[in-house]
Amino acid sequence: MTDQTNSAWGGRFSEATDEFVAEFTASVSFDKRMYQQDIQGSKAHARMLAAVGVITDAERDLIVDGLDTIQIQIEQGDFEWRTALEDVHMNIESALTKNIGAVGKKLHTGRSRNDQVATDIRLYLRDAIDGILGQLCLLQRGIITLASDHTDTIMPGFTHLQTAQPVTFGHHLLAWNEMLQRDSERLIDCRKRVNILPLGSAALAGTTFPIDRVMTAQLLGFDAPSENSLDSVSDRDFAIEFSAASAMIMMHLSRMSEELVLWTSAQFQFIDLPDRFCTGSSIMPQKKNPDVPELVRGKSGRVIGHLMSLLVLMKGQPLAYNKDNQEDKEPLFDTMDQVFNSLKAFASMVPAIVPHKANMRSAAFKGYSTATDLADYLVKKGMPFRDAHEVVGKAVAKGLADGKDLSELSLDSLQQFSDLIAQDVFDVLTLEGSVKARNHIGGTAPEQVKQAAIRAHSRVLR
Ligand code: ARG
Repeated sequence: MTDQTNSAWGGRFSEATDEFVAEFTASVSFDKRMYQQDIQGSKAHARMLAAVGVITDAERDLIVDGLDTIQIQIEQGDFEWRTALEDVHMNIESALTKNIGAVGKKLHTGRSRNDQVATDIRLYLRDAIDGILGQLCLLQRGIITLASDHTDTIMPGFTHLQTAQPVTFGHHLLAWNEMLQRDSERLIDCRKRVNILPLGSAALAGTTFPIDRVMTAQLLGFDAPSENSLDSVSDRDFAIEFSAASAMIMMHLSRMSEELVLWTSAQFQFIDLPDRFCTGSSIMPQKKNPDVPELVRGKSGRVIGHLMSLLVLMKGQPLAYNKDNQEDKEPLFDTMDQVFNSLKAFASMVPAIVPHKANMRSAAFKGYSTATDLADYLVKKGMPFRDAHEVVGKAVAKGLADGKDLSELSLDSLQQFSDLIAQDVFDVLTLEGSVKARNHIGGTAPEQVKQAAIRAHSRVLR
């Protein structure tokens, strides 16, 4: 054995690892970001080993202090990460032994990197979920506040991106909030399955030492130790689940982005985004581009891609740990980063949206958006809905021919289509009348939207 053989496992090897292979198989360049969780897990492991008598209290103290020192060194930039030591786990363990001497070699008693890495990822992901939930909550509050300010601001509601019926801007915004509310609930649910302790599973079958996994779980804030050692060193379904919840968040942010891009266009002019969220063009001086929503829409592709990567990574693996799993980290970390940053950008941008009420209103006015209201009016006067639909279709055709909205046609000309029509028709043909009439839970009536905003607010981050 040469001294280039890895000291953590070099015993049975007769030649050093090929230099390229060492680099190819190393993960330290990206898993070092879990240093804090690795140290936290190791400290809990050492405390548990001492509590069950596998190491002495004095050894525990040396190890715990040594790990604290390493954390300080890392945070001060005084730590040398070595690719030859493969990953964050062996870098830290090797530095510990170098710093505190032979007792450092006792830390790995009763554990394996397989349960160690699974523990580190869960600790890391748990914090990431909490951070993302915090941003989600900020964004939801921003959306709900804006919605409360616009419970009677009228805009066109669309189906097929064609003007359908008038809605209130507040109602539209609260639709966004519902999507995010479910996203938040999904993450909270996913966190329950993340928060289970794999440590103690050792390489795959458990360990011969009299470990106390309940104690380790408590020290690390896990809800419970995992039930099956083979399963807990191998499956990354908790990460896949987080990825799926993240893909859903990005899909929702992407839909919102699409609307923001449309609404800021010269063709819509429904809203303005403050300059600080936009950029210009280097050639067209007039341009103000909605870069933030466009970028978030773009990033959704990469997060959805990471979900696919993780699913495919897992699907071919027999029990238990396989090196394939080292490939979980880059997609997972990138997912956390992209989702956090996208939510953060949205959380500061959404409250800064400036709606152009007059433009929204006139767009709603243009598209015969109260045609359904006229049909409902006729039904309430005794006409079967299908007949009413037909009658209103003819009235719309007349409006189109005359270049007038339904509410601009005279009573006489409306009565040509049905003698059920009377002066009171104009109450339902106005935009205000139309939204006000949809007065039930989930409807767009300003009164309902006010109540919905209050309920939405009380549901944020349960
Ligand atoms: N760097 C490895 C990973 O990310 C740690 C576990 C390695 N275990 C092993 N037996 N090679 O999965």
